[in-house]
Amino acid sequence: MRRLCRARTVTTRANADGTDGDARDDAADEGSGDAKAPARRKRVLSGVQPTGSIHLGNYFGAIRNYVKLQDDYDAFYCVVDLHAITSGAHDPRELEASTRMSAGIYLAAGVDPSKANVFVQSHVPAHSELAWLLNCATPIGWLEKMIQFKEKARKAGEDVSVGLLDYPVLMAADILLYKADLVPVGEDQRQHLELTRDIAGRVNSLYGGKKWKKMKGKAPSGRSRGGDVLLVPEAFTPKEGGRVMSLTDGSSKMSKSNPAEGSRINVLDTPDEISKKIKRCKTDTFEGLEFGNPERPESQNLLTMYQLCTGLSQEEVIAECGTMRWGDFKPKLTEAVIEHLSPIQGRYKEIMDEPGYLEGVLRDGADKANEVANITIRDVRDALGFYQPR
Ligand code: AMP
Ligand code: TRP
Repeated sequence: MRRLCRARTVTTRANADGTDGDARDDAADEGSGDAKAPARRKRVLSGVQPTGSIHLGNYFGAIRNYVKLQDDYDAFYCVVDLHAITSGAHDPRELEASTRMSAGIYLAAGVDPSKANVFVQSHVPAHSELAWLLNCATPIGWLEKMIQFKEKARKAGEDVSVGLLDYPVLMAADILLYKADLVPVGEDQRQHLELTRDIAGRVNSLYGGKKWKKMKGKAPSGRSRGGDVLLVPEAFTPKEGGRVMSLTDGSSKMSKSNPAEGSRINVLDTPDEISKKIKRCKTDTFEGLEFGNPERPESQNLLTMYQLCTGLSQEEVIAECGTMRWGDFKPKLTEAVIEHLSPIQGRYKEIMDEPGYLEGVLRDGADKANEVANITIRDVRDALGFYQPR
């Protein structure tokens, strides 16, 4: 199958010049110690957990932006399987299949392995190691304040795992290992991104700068010691789609963990499933349809979904649907969602049906990810003063 052929152009070779004081300067990282080498391309990293199925919130909030950013950034997209076990009682029989499915959906949605490195988090051991090192620099109070932890812990009661509390530190490790400049996520992850920035800042002030410089000489990566150890990243959330809401309650977020299957549309749902879910979804009794009315969260959500699937502007959506009744709008929305998802589903099938293809992509992705991650982890160990193997 020619279209699926892996034409890997390694996009990560252009790199930094090895000057002092910038965590971006991982000269040996990509093999350049040359002072005239071009500046390193900016990097993007993100990931989705392989728990349950990937829904329109994941797709519009995150994955679609992976595709947009891969042309201009050095891209690393992982399936964060280590995050998927924080519930404390995951089903081991499902983890592998969900991990493959998530990676398959990245590719089917348009992530191109010739432009982006796609890999599985647990295939890069440095994620777990950096998480431990960051744990020891993270005050526990920072984690106890996380909204997602508080909500999940409330639901989990006494069974809450240490991993659930620690989850954002592992996420920080994912990002900081790659010195990512930008992290495309849905709005619900903004707080975790802020935490990542705080952790990076704390490590830099505890172990970077003059303290690191006093050790003299070069760090294992080849850069001079001193300056920032870690790069402080920025979040990227889309203008529309950063918070897709539930079909059964327009004021709560569409989520994998909602036991009501009718609350979300999954990327791999059949036309029949999509049609049934939209038919039953919550509406209101107002006349017409509108954006921006706080009393009409369902109208806001379903019009936005229509906008995202059709690529129309808000004005165009209102011109087309503003005077419609729900009974007229729902079939239109159904058709738009099915039409948007159908090519993705077709590609997904092709990808999963080609023996060895996905495995090859993930192997190449992990090779590249390990290469970059190992350079960061060695420098972090160095800054923290660990005795290095010689
Ligand atoms: P998760 O399902 O928690 O692994 O989330 C993976 C990505 O999807 C993250 O970037 C989330 O911020 C994003 N995401 C999850 N749910 C939604 C939603 N309802 N709307 C927009 N983005 C979402
Ligand atoms: N915590 C994210 C979520 O639940 C998933 C995630 C883990 C992630 N590591 C990441 C997202 C690194 C972006 C970057 O949605």
